[in-house]
Amino acid sequence: MNLITRTAVLAALMASSTLTLAEVKVSDAVEYRQGIYKAVRWNFGPMGDMVKGKQEFNADEFSRRAANLAALSKMPLEGFVAGSYNGTYSGSTDALPAIEKDWETFAGIMSDFETNAAALAEAASAGDMDAIRPAFMSVAKTCKSCHDKFKD
Ligand code: HEC
Repeated sequence: MNLITRTAVLAALMASSTLTLAEVKVSDAVEYRQGIYKAVRWNFGPMGDMVKGKQEFNADEFSRRAANLAALSKMPLEGFVAGSYNGTYSGSTDALPAIEKDWETFAGIMSDFETNAAALAEAASAGDMDAIRPAFMSVAKTCKSCHDKFKD
């Protein structure tokens, strides 16, 4: 192989590997955020059952789950990357392109989610259902307001 051929082959290899790397990163980001939301549901579901009285209230469990939720609420945002939205992304996602178009609103609701989840963890640590209930409802409203606008 002469130098020019070698350079051309190398350039082609780099171009194709760069493309593959970028695609892998987008699908990793989608799986990452979906995994976080699955963990959110895992913790939020039993808390909801305790608030509604479908499951006996256990202050320790509730507090542990609320602390998990507060930590999880900080995590999904970085998984929303360019090219990862319904319509452009080739894999499966329920994330609407409106997220990219209206990033400020989306990030604002995500920030409300963090604030409300932290307040719920705070209320839960005192173990008083009268304080927990409204804090739980505020978090639930945040989930819904984001899903209504930004999730298919
Ligand atoms: C700021 C926006 C936002 C907030 C807040 C939010 N979600 Fe979501 N959620 C999304 C988006 C967008 C998706 C779709 C992700 C995807 O498919 O790539 C999603 C997906 C999910 C999924 C499906 C995960 C899967 O792939 O199986 C569950 C479950 C979920 N959210 C539960 C919740 C719950 C419970 C809350 C509140 C405690 C919450 N979400 C708060 C935006 C949000």
